[in-house]
Amino acid sequence: MKKQTIKEILQDYKKVLHHDITVYGWVKSFRANRFIALNDGSTINNLQIVVDFENFDKEIINKISTASSLKVIGEVVESQGAGQTVEIIAKKIIILGDNFTEELQNTILQPKKHSLEKLREQAHLRFRTNLFGAVFRVRHAVTFAIHSFFTKNHFFNIHTPIITGADAEGAGEMFGLTSFDLNNVPKTEDGQVDYSQDFFGKQTNLTVSGQLEGETAAMGLGRIYTFGPTFRAENSNTTRHLAEFWMVEPEVAFNNLEDNIDLAEDFLKYVIQYVLDNCKDDLEFLDKRFAEEQKSKPEKERAKEGLIEKLQNVVAKRFMRVSYTEAIDILLNSKENKKGKFQFPIESWGADLQSEHERFLVEKHFESPVVLFDYPKDIKAFYMRLNDDNKTVRAMDVLFPGIGEIIGGSEREERIEVLRQKMKEMHVEEEELWWYMDTRKFGSVPHAGFGLGLERLILFVTGMTNIRDVIPFPRTPKSAEF
Ligand code: 4AD
Ligand code: MG
Repeated sequence: MKKQTIKEILQDYKKVLHHDITVYGWVKSFRANRFIALNDGSTINNLQIVVDFENFDKEIINKISTASSLKVIGEVVESQGAGQTVEIIAKKIIILGDNFTEELQNTILQPKKHSLEKLREQAHLRFRTNLFGAVFRVRHAVTFAIHSFFTKNHFFNIHTPIITGADAEGAGEMFGLTSFDLNNVPKTEDGQVDYSQDFFGKQTNLTVSGQLEGETAAMGLGRIYTFGPTFRAENSNTTRHLAEFWMVEPEVAFNNLEDNIDLAEDFLKYVIQYVLDNCKDDLEFLDKRFAEEQKSKPEKERAKEGLIEKLQNVVAKRFMRVSYTEAIDILLNSKENKKGKFQFPIESWGADLQSEHERFLVEKHFESPVVLFDYPKDIKAFYMRLNDDNKTVRAMDVLFPGIGEIIGGSEREERIEVLRQKMKEMHVEEEELWWYMDTRKFGSVPHAGFGLGLERLILFVTGMTNIRDVIPFPRTPKSAEF
């Protein structure tokens, strides 16, 4: 018979009721030498195994403890106790893996409360915990919903390269890549590194964004999206930055900024609604955890809504659309700014917004997700379309409560002369991007796109607060274990 997960067994228990079945899993707890809570990762719910210890070898019983793994054959019966519909009366138990008992003492598998920091140090074991099981099942559901949304809307997924010679954001926050022996790097006559002798015959780096390659694909396929890892060597040790993160980047031919904002709003709502509909058990668990967490916070820092309630509200509300200029006015006139409450006070138009300003707008002022658009050209990337005022570009950022920026995007500069001028001003080498320039030479069209930081969305949906806790193996400054 085909192996069944515990999720399937619990969902379709009527099919197996009063039958003997085989189940596999890890022991979550073993109570009174009689009740095993077994979990196989397929769901947050455990399957209860009832053991009549007199019928079993003592040696086997002694080896069953939290974390050990079992194969159990037994009959599915309606449960006598509260808390579960069905349970299994064990007929045969096979220990697949028992524990190194002494070492187990020092792991997060010990059944007690561990700090998130401690869990992070044992990231290879945290998949076994209820919390991280829930987080990573939700992460999967979000990933699936993303592909589903774009597929439904006639987009094609394009796999853009991880190794590239371009700096897509022009921000210079790249991890270089080389196959040189770093103790013996070939140099040119004038003492520079001679990349012509390197693996690719040129300087390369890990990509910061698939956008530029994505744009070339959109110029033939129309609607595309990329979905892959991206890398940033920004030394920001915050709860919202990773050195390696996953980004989703749709790019659409013939779209303008308004279309782009509509797409971002529909997209986020679809994904969140999908999680509400398909991750009920995990969300309920995360919702309870979220509520518990609030209790330990000072009253004024507590969230106004529960996790599930927050997700429902975001889906129901229309996002506020506000120009950068309006936002600066609001910030300049805010009590917070006047009383010096911001770490980075806003002094004038042109200021780059920090996460404290974004969160003020979203959480205090509008109490809703906000889309800011038409930013000053000097604080945004070279490829964004210049407005007629010559001062602002058709940029957009989607700001979320508790997160700040979750999406960044723009309408693109499709006019080659304007693009050239911008690149010159911003010191972006045209030669390196000759292929990008080509897209503006042969049937250039208006187009627009954006990038969603996957982990920031997972933070929002799970109610977790540190980005290191929503990616299996986080890469951050001075940390690349596992
Ligand atoms: O705003 P960013 O830098 O935009 C781009 O890279 C564009 N090429 C996107 C596009 O238009 N196609 O990054 C997009 C999003 C941010 O809004 C944020 O959610 C996330 O990526 N992000 C990060 N997430 C985690 N760690 C980091 N270091 C991040 N940097 C950006
Ligand atoms: Mg951005």
